[in-house]
Amino acid sequence: MSVLIAPSILSADFARLGDAIAATERGGADFIHVDVMDGHFVPNITIGVPVVRSLKRIAKVPLDVHLMITDPDRYIEAFAEAGASMMSVHVEVLPHLHRTVHAIKALGVKAGVVLNPATPVAALEQIAPDVDYVLVMSVNPGFGGQSFIPGSEPKVKDVRALLDRTGNPAPVEIDGGIDLGHVARRLNARPRIIVAGSAVFHTPDAERATRDLKAAALAAAGAPVAR
Ligand code: DX5
Ligand code: ZN
Repeated sequence: MSVLIAPSILSADFARLGDAIAATERGGADFIHVDVMDGHFVPNITIGVPVVRSLKRIAKVPLDVHLMITDPDRYIEAFAEAGASMMSVHVEVLPHLHRTVHAIKALGVKAGVVLNPATPVAALEQIAPDVDYVLVMSVNPGFGGQSFIPGSEPKVKDVRALLDRTGNPAPVEIDGGIDLGHVARRLNARPRIIVAGSAVFHTPDAERATRDLKAAALAAAGAPVAR
């Protein structure tokens, strides 16, 4: 099984985002995970549309934009135009999730749906056939550097099973509290995309941290490791 690594630039030095992205790309990053926070859905405020547009100019790999905002419908078009290749929205804020998912797809962007730690997998039941990926939060969103919530691992398995039941091969992404020491254990549930922020950027060498994380993930998943 292949495992894809998406470094989250939330933990990078925001004055040197270009360098941060280049380093992780040299280390084998498959996507760049961009955490958009509005200070309403989550307590923090981070990156907006103009920053995504600038990142798109320099990134070689696709931008995976995680919208932690109360009203994503207002912004999906702008983030699509700015260069998001993948865009995920939280089920907790969307009364018309089906409409939003299809609006994202109509913009030519992969549509992901995100579950907070306290949100049950059942919330995906009806939308499962339509999604391009599912993001399982393994911390409460808002900040980097938090501890992994253990129940997230069986949850990834349950989401995988739900997608499989509907015949949807969409990957499951896991986000929050993943570090090199634990990556093998987190992978028991076989997520396809792993987000890591502080495990990449709170190290002296983001390129090396990305490479090590990817090697550990691939080894744990039983895939041949390309060096
Ligand atoms: C949390 C964000 C995550 C965060 C992960 O709200 O969605 O993407 O950056 O950071 P770590 O890997 O440090 O938990
Ligand atoms: Zn995220």
